[in-house]
Amino acid sequence: MVKSNSSIQNPKSKIQNRKVSPARLAAFEILQKIEMDKAFSSALLPIYEEKLQPKDRALCHNLTLGVLRNQIYLDRTIEKLTAKKTNKFDLAVLLALRIGLYQLLFLDKIPAHAAINESVNLVQKTKKTSAKNLVNAVLRRATREKIELEFADETEKIAVETSHPRWLFEKWIREFGFEAAKKLAFADNETPNLVFRLTAKSDAKTVETLAKIGLEINESEIVASAWKVFGSNEILRLYADEGKIYFQDEASQLVAQAVELKPGESFLDVCAAPGSKVTQIQDSGFRIQGSGIKVQDLLVAGDYFEHRIRILQANCRKQAADYINIVRYDAENALPFADESFDVVLVDAPCSGTGTIRHNPEIRYFLSEKDFAELSAKQLKILQTASKVLKKTGRLVYSTCSLENEENEAVIEEFLEENREFTKVLPKLSNLFLTDKDFARTFPPRDKTDGFFIAEMIKR
Ligand SMILES: C[S@@+](CC[C@H](N)C(=O)[O-])C[C@H]1O[C@@H](n2cnc3c(N)ncnc32)[C@H](O)[C@@H]1O
Repeated sequence: MVKSNSSIQNPKSKIQNRKVSPARLAAFEILQKIEMDKAFSSALLPIYEEKLQPKDRALCHNLTLGVLRNQIYLDRTIEKLTAKKTNKFDLAVLLALRIGLYQLLFLDKIPAHAAINESVNLVQKTKKTSAKNLVNAVLRRATREKIELEFADETEKIAVETSHPRWLFEKWIREFGFEAAKKLAFADNETPNLVFRLTAKSDAKTVETLAKIGLEINESEIVASAWKVFGSNEILRLYADEGKIYFQDEASQLVAQAVELKPGESFLDVCAAPGSKVTQIQDSGFRIQGSGIKVQDLLVAGDYFEHRIRILQANCRKQAADYINIVRYDAENALPFADESFDVVLVDAPCSGTGTIRHNPEIRYFLSEKDFAELSAKQLKILQTASKVLKKTGRLVYSTCSLENEENEAVIEEFLEENREFTKVLPKLSNLFLTDKDFARTFPPRDKTDGFFIAEMIKR
């Protein structure tokens, strides 16, 4: 929600000093990297936040995600205030304006003079001295005037107010209808629940200890393995760093639940990095069978990218997921296993990630309409390759964190058309998530989770 202008103090101060707070500087640098390198906020924030004091950490987090979640709205406001298109601005100047304007319009506790001075100083610090007066004037004007944006129609209004590219919002309207698309667009800007699950390193007291140190922790209503935590503190961070808990959205945990390995079944996770699901699958094998008993005969996890394989290895080590064999391959071409090797195969396919915009707000700006056809071709290829290494009567589970029909239902329907030995079966999940086409889906506005798609097939 945009805060009303009445709550904004009239800034009296001149530009007082050249200081930029560590939080604003970190947010500025993160946003710059996102723009220049298509980097992800979820990867950059922990790196920067590690070096900040707790108070600065919270502000850096808020500024980075707040600017990203409201970027189109902020840019339209900047264009209105300057009568200049934002693509004509120098990037450093535009970012200083976005950060300043976000604080003025959305944050109640930051005095206007601090927001303005620090954005001016940011411009100064990045040697864009000539733009200092512009930034100062634009932000001051924003404190004096109520800025009314004009919209061509209701679609544009929602797209701008929720900061989604119009083409993407229109795509969702075609797919889900106007009201559902609108709810989705608003849900994308909500702060997601912080959710963790236990690991092989947790003990019976892990959750109890976290609750005792003042964190509110509730069991998830939708997936048995998940815990929702409200608030954060050093112990929670320490537990995560030590691998005693693992942060993972409830919808992502549902995928591992749908896989549900039985004792002795061999398993391949075709697209496994960073390893959220395969480590969960090994751990639930332990929990079902009791500690000390060897889990499945064979657990294999692979990926294409070397740097992601390293993250997968590190995650397995951190969580003491010691039974996972890690392999590198290109699953679009061939897998280094004999045909019919595995009882269960999971294809958690590379996808657009439109179901995870709450966690990764920048995704909406990286995507373009043509990406979906390319992605669905890649997904189908990987599924074809993966299907070969599945034993007869084995189960093939396909999942994405995309909301798009082209990457989900359409891929499976084409696969089933071309592979008559496969039959679709209902994923073993609550009716809540089952669709009329016998797939499972989660929806951010309905389930307060990321948006995942799950399909299950049996090979005859
Ligand atoms: C959605 S992510 C998988 C997430 C993972 N299952 C988890 O739970 O943490 C998709 C993965 O597919 C991998 N990938 C992309 N193209 C691939 C290919 N041709 N062969 C194998 N893996 C590929 C990506 O590197 C990425 O790690």
